[in-house]
Amino acid sequence: MGNVISLSCVLCGKLYEESPGLYACLACGDLATLRVSYDYESVTIGRESLASQPLSDQWRYLPLLPLRNRKVSIPLRIGGTPLYPAPRLRQALGLQHLWVKDDTSNPSGSLKDRASAVVILKGRELGYSEIATASTGNAGASLACLCASVGMRCHIFVPKSAPLPKLAQLLIFGANLLPVEGSYDDAFNLCTEACRELGWYNRNTGYNPYTVEGKKTVSMEISEQMGWEPPDTVIVPVGDGCILSGAWKGFFDLKGVGLISRLPRLVAAQAEGSQAIKQAFDGDGKIRPVQVNTLADSISVSLPRNGAMAVQDLRASGGMAVTVSDGEILEAMKLLGRSAGLFGEAAGVAALAALLKLRSRGDISSDERVVIIVTGSGLKDTGSALKSVTMPPPLPCSIEALRSRELH
Ligand SMILES: Cc1ncc(COP(=O)(O)O)c(C=O)c1O
Ligand SMILES: [Zn+2]
Repeated sequence: MGNVISLSCVLCGKLYEESPGLYACLACGDLATLRVSYDYESVTIGRESLASQPLSDQWRYLPLLPLRNRKVSIPLRIGGTPLYPAPRLRQALGLQHLWVKDDTSNPSGSLKDRASAVVILKGRELGYSEIATASTGNAGASLACLCASVGMRCHIFVPKSAPLPKLAQLLIFGANLLPVEGSYDDAFNLCTEACRELGWYNRNTGYNPYTVEGKKTVSMEISEQMGWEPPDTVIVPVGDGCILSGAWKGFFDLKGVGLISRLPRLVAAQAEGSQAIKQAFDGDGKIRPVQVNTLADSISVSLPRNGAMAVQDLRASGGMAVTVSDGEILEAMKLLGRSAGLFGEAAGVAALAALLKLRSRGDISSDERVVIIVTGSGLKDTGSALKSVTMPPPLPCSIEALRSRELH
């Protein structure tokens, strides 16, 4: 399959070749995700050829993606998102070298589009005509969006408590929406069973090995946008741990083909009320389910499906895991909005909340080169955003009323 050599189990190392219906390790079970490795010697990708094309989407890294077909047939722009220096945010944090990777500008408003695009193309290669995913909302909205653009049928299992704007997106895109009476973890299990029984391709985050492969383009872009000098530290919001592993894999593959010469450390930002990966990282590395309770719905995960890989990757990067409270997340949401003009959803700003905590603890120095990834748009959950601000009362429509109103 192109430049891919093998898929290997994160737990036992057993090697597999791609085949329809293969997701996790058959010996170790569904939590043992598979890593995709490439024959770097045979990959043709170089700085000059990349520099000759504008950084307009993620397909510039096709030689390092697990797709046989070199013609991409998704008519929406995936990736190619801005990396902002955010001068006022730098000032607020006392950091000289801070950048914000704004992945809210993907077609469905979240980083998930990077993975959905690769998985849809892979599903087609494998001969599937229908595709399904479990989702806290964003992965589903993303899959629905991109499936609509190519005319593929999709089925989305969400916890019935998912924020309404995300469900509205799904319905507008014409997906078969299945609001499950249960948690995200319940939706995940039902989706896996449904795919097995009904012959649909399964995009479940982490479980499908190509989700990490799609998400890795975010750090390839960061590296290229920084002139192939990767940052010292990248902070990533973490639920299932798939974005974190994707971010690591992007840097890892770029180093493999010689486009960068060193790897950054990663920081996992988890909600206090959903910290299975932090606990495994600080403990014996084994993922155990936790009780979840956070308003950051996109990172509210009891049993992270990509947890084992994420913990390995965090350790390999010399990184760490940080938890943030809902209050800290809401403060970060306001800070990002007011000092950078960017509106992230609660999960989407968890990396900034973690950065604030690390700065206050003295764990990040003022000259460190730091990137935070904003993973999802605030418009996807205005209910949470409204908890961090005060809605002013209506203003009588007169200049006198305006004069007597306290102006900010
Ligand atoms: C906006 C946003 N941020 C972060 C995450 C966490 O990603 P992962 O589950 O891969 O850790 C998600 C996942 O749904 C998300 O939608
Ligand atoms: Zn295994």
